[in-house]
Order: sequence, then C-alpha cells, then structure tokens
Amino acid sequence: MRKNIVAGNWKMNKNLQEGLALATELNDILSSAKPNCEVVIGTPFIHLAKVVEAVNTDTIKVSAQNCADKVSGAYTGEISAEMVKSTGATHVILGHSERRAYYGETAEILKEKVELALANGLTPIFCIGEVLEERESGKHFDVVKAQISESLFGLSTEDFGKIVLAYEPVWAIGTGKTASPEQAQEIHAFIRQTVADKYGKEVADNTSILYGGSCKPSNAKELFSNPDVDGGLIGGASLKAEDFKGIIDAF
Ligand code: PGA
Repeated sequence: MRKNIVAGNWKMNKNLQEGLALATELNDILSSAKPNCEVVIGTPFIHLAKVVEAVNTDTIKVSAQNCADKVSGAYTGEISAEMVKSTGATHVILGHSERRAYYGETAEILKEKVELALANGLTPIFCIGEVLEERESGKHFDVVKAQISESLFGLSTEDFGKIVLAYEPVWAIGTGKTASPEQAQEIHAFIRQTVADKYGKEVADNTSILYGGSCKPSNAKELFSNPDVDGGLIGGASLKAEDFKGIIDAF
C-alpha cells in the first residue's frame, strides 16, 4: 500500500550551520516521538552529506531539490544524480514549479532527470501543478495530465512504481493561499485516475500523491484526511522544526 509522507523543501534557505542545527533539532524531536508517516527533508546540495550523518535515516530520509539531466562531464556547476546518491541521500525533488519557471526546466529535461535519478536508486518526488490563470480558466486538469504524461509515461511500470507525486498549485506556493480540501481531493483523485489509465489501478493505488502549497500545522489535518491526499511537500513551514513537527503530527 502507498505510504503517507511529509517532505520538507528548504529551497535556498539556511547556511550549512543553520541547516545542520535544524536537522539535528528535528532528529531529536522525532527520536522521542516517532512519526506515523515517512519524513523527508529536502536540503540544499551542500548540506546533504552532513545532514545524512546528523540524522537517523531510518526516521528522516534526506532529499536533494534537483539533479542534473546529464550523467557526468563538462557541465560546470551541475550536480549529478550519482553525486546526490553518494552523499547518502535517498530522494530528489524534481520538476518543482520554481525550477520550471526560473530555470527553464522543460518536460523533456525533466524526463532525463527522472531517468537518471531512478538509474541511481533515488526516489523522485515529482512536482506538478497549474498556475492561477490555468486554474481560473479550468485548464488545471489538462495541465497536470500533460506534466505527468510528458515526463513520466515513458517509464516502465516497475520504474513508475518508484515515483512519488507532489501536486502543488503554483498559486498556493508561498502565498498563504491553500487549495481547499475539496479542491485538493478533486485533483488528487484525477491524478490517481490518470495514473490508473496508464499503469492500472494497482499501481495508481500504490502511488503516494502529496499536496504542496502553504500547508501548515493548522490546515494539514484537513488536507491529509482526504482519501487521495497522502501527505505534503512543505516549503516555508519546514524551516522551523516545531511547525514541521506540527504537520507530521497530522498523521
Ligand atoms: P510552501 O512551498 O509550503 O512555502 O507554500 C511549498 C513548495 O514549494 O514545495
């Protein structure tokens, strides 16, 4: 059966010392109060190896926020999936809307990244979601369907089974505006059906689909109580151990 997951996305926040302090604090809190879900923290690249050492990775999985679309070689400044794996990280966030919007990540580039992540044994947390205009004009279903099919539907059934999806409406990210529980359930059910149409019901039922976008302790329970919402991808509220723990406690 699919897992419930709460994953933090620190984005470009916290220097190394601050990041280590946050990871250590979270590790201390969760070692005395075991979570009822899988917990992942998505740190900047430079934090990965040290954070892996600082936490109990049975309780806290460590994730990168990106990886290169190339295997290795003359790509100055890039970090490969193999390098991410070598830090002890187990997950990688791919296709975040900020990367699509600010760094020109296309469906084709993301397809390469997903394949390299999987080839290196990393679990991709693959983000999809529409912008406000698309939601207001009723195109959100088509948008997320295209994002999934263009980057992921070339995968074998076995490989697709390793993907975690994160639905993040762009209009809800960092805005304080959250999708209503009804909006989240409606589109999560649609996403699951889209997966079922391609890979069958069993694969769809086993796929974890997270919600992201201004998720916080006060709204997490309502969002996660929907049958097709299997947890959250958390930005702002993952930067304070207490808030993040408040969201984990929704399970
Ligand atoms: P937010 O970000 O929780 O700060 O809205 C979510 C995300 O971008 O993953």
